[in-house]
Amino acid sequence: MATIQWFPGHMAKAIRQLEENLHVVDIVFELVDARIPQSSRNPEIERIIKNKPHLVIMTKSDLADPEQTKNWIKKFKAQGLPAIAVDSKANITTKTVTRISQSILADKLDNEQQKGLKERPIRAITVGIPNVGKSTLLNRLVNKRAAQVGDRPGVTKGQQWLRSSSKLQLLDTPGILWPKFDDEETGQALALTGAIKDQRFASDDVALYALKFFRQYYPKALQERYKLTEDDFDLSDVDLLLKLTKQFGMKDDYERASDRLILDIRKSKLGRYSLNRTDGEADA
Ligand code: G4P
Repeated sequence: MATIQWFPGHMAKAIRQLEENLHVVDIVFELVDARIPQSSRNPEIERIIKNKPHLVIMTKSDLADPEQTKNWIKKFKAQGLPAIAVDSKANITTKTVTRISQSILADKLDNEQQKGLKERPIRAITVGIPNVGKSTLLNRLVNKRAAQVGDRPGVTKGQQWLRSSSKLQLLDTPGILWPKFDDEETGQALALTGAIKDQRFASDDVALYALKFFRQYYPKALQERYKLTEDDFDLSDVDLLLKLTKQFGMKDDYERASDRLILDIRKSKLGRYSLNRTDGEADA
């Protein structure tokens, strides 16, 4: 498995930009994919954003296992991280995000009021790995007709504040983090959900990971989609992949069959799923 995914120069530049932008925001919206809330997080986020208030937004919750999403929200909260789950294609409301941001920043905002400062909108930046849904969420949160607030001191040239509500403004340039996959499973989870779309991972490896995973956690979905018999569940992962290859009419082209299986899963043909699992407890 290849290990270096980002040129160090790109990475350094992305971090530098994010660090500059952090100075002008009150809160960071960290986007993670609800199907892989752990694998789609960059473990260095805490170091990069330091003590900035921070809301975890789990995107694509419409694709994830609702039970697991609940558990993840619990787990993040147990770690002192407020978290919400959204479907940016349908139900994300500006009101909810504004309200939660206000409650996270309540002390700071109260303080400012007590000092006699004028009430002002909260300023936020979205950050996350490529494909996690940053643009989709921004588009959803921003009222397009009245979107641009204009240049303001402190914002890097060429960047804009976008108005989400009278109480919330978002920086138009999201912070980009890179996925980190030192271990094979994280890489496979990223590949299976489509977070990494290139050829870095052999599709048969990802397909075998998928079969093993779905057999363990969602056997019914697998059985129904591919009309598997009980005996099929006694096959090894490799033999099951070969059986599916034949079933797809692909003779022994198990790589093509792997691509097909992966695409089915990405497109939720086997239903909703969460690859990172938790019981909701904070880690000891
Ligand atoms: P990015 O800016 O972080 O790189 O991600 P972007 O918003 O471009 O979203 C990446 C893909 O994820 C898009 O799909 C987008 O529609 C999808 N997406 C984002 N948020 C959600 C969500 O909450 N639920 C679902 N189901 N999908 C979401 P795409 O395949 O690139 O395009 P398309 O399918 O929308 O045409």
